[in-house]
Amino acid sequence: MKNSSAESYKRHRLTVLLDVLLSFTARACVMATMIVSFILTTDDVISGALSLGDYAVLWGMFVLLGYNASAIGLYWIELQKNVAAVRRVFFFIDYTAEVERPLQPMAPLANAITFNDVSFSYPDGRVGLSQINLTFPVGKLVAIVGPTGAGKTTLAYMLPGYLRPTTGDIYFDEKNLKDVNFNDIRNQVTYVFQEHMLLSNSICENLLLGNPDASEDEMLEACRISGAMEFIDPLPKGIDTPVGKGGDTLSVGQKQRLSIARGLVRHTPILVLDEPTAALDPQTENALMASLKKAAKGRLVVVIAHRLSTIREADQIVFLEGGRVVDVGDHETLMRDPEGRYRQFVDLQRR
Ligand SMILES: Nc1ncnc2c1ncn2[C@@H]1O[C@H](COP(=O)(O)OP(=O)(O)OP(=O)(O)O)[C@@H](O)[C@H]1O
Ligand SMILES: [Mg+2]
Repeated sequence: MKNSSAESYKRHRLTVLLDVLLSFTARACVMATMIVSFILTTDDVISGALSLGDYAVLWGMFVLLGYNASAIGLYWIELQKNVAAVRRVFFFIDYTAEVERPLQPMAPLANAITFNDVSFSYPDGRVGLSQINLTFPVGKLVAIVGPTGAGKTTLAYMLPGYLRPTTGDIYFDEKNLKDVNFNDIRNQVTYVFQEHMLLSNSICENLLLGNPDASEDEMLEACRISGAMEFIDPLPKGIDTPVGKGGDTLSVGQKQRLSIARGLVRHTPILVLDEPTAALDPQTENALMASLKKAAKGRLVVVIAHRLSTIREADQIVFLEGGRVVDVGDHETLMRDPEGRYRQFVDLQRR
């Protein structure tokens, strides 16, 4: 860090020095050329070869040419000042776009999402998931559990197609994910991310980002379910209160509840929440899990979680480790196996 700062300061000084040198040289050249042209044109005016009008026009042209010629030299320096920003713009221009193909339309998920021998490796070769065979049935609350770096987020990213299997297939009912459009999948899946991204607008505008057509009643209901109402209610302006840059006038738990409410106003058949209870107190957590269980009736809710209190509410628990599924079942079934990884994980938390 210290080295980077020193390097940055050194480069800044070099740029300023070059700026001064180039300006000085360019101005000196302009002055010299002007002096020569002044002598030549005045000589011609005195001898009668040029009129006084010619002199005025020529002089104006010299001034313009000289000014622009010196600006060309400084142009390179101006460009250097913006290189960092330009690099970021080019990064996005070069980013591979998701190619939409005119494929078959997709009906809302009715039965289940099925993973068939799904493996995934990141571009740098790191293995994210290996040979996942799973079923996520509609009407269930599924919890994905496992140590940090186990591949929980990677697995959840497969549901809205943010990541696609390197090998294997994912089926939405009978439809292979390879044969459907990204927009069709994303319209069915709501993903509440592990990091909260809020705009520096009002609470209401942040909720509308999830669903621009949501009515005020729907928004208030979503806030009630996520427990966000608890801090919105006492605010004088209610849901019209601005939340500051990136939501920084809210606490982490409040941001989390607002992000969940934003997910809930979308009413999609699939709801994925990455660590939704990490920053909540036990009371809010219990209320949220009860609401999510209710919400799971008629849709699929997938929750990534570390806390036992969140996990045990799930209808199905998927225990991941090193990118592999090591245990699947509900809490009672998995607890019966004394050697099971889930049982060990629970015992560790209880201790
Ligand atoms: N963009 C990436 N490029 C390369 N490897 C990655 C990338 N994202 C994640 N990984 C690797 O994939 C593995 C699984 O990561 P993942 O984010 O799915 O873990 P996780 O189970 O969600 O962990 P946590 O509980 O900390 O959120 C990790 O070993 C991680 O280092
Ligand atoms: Mg994660």
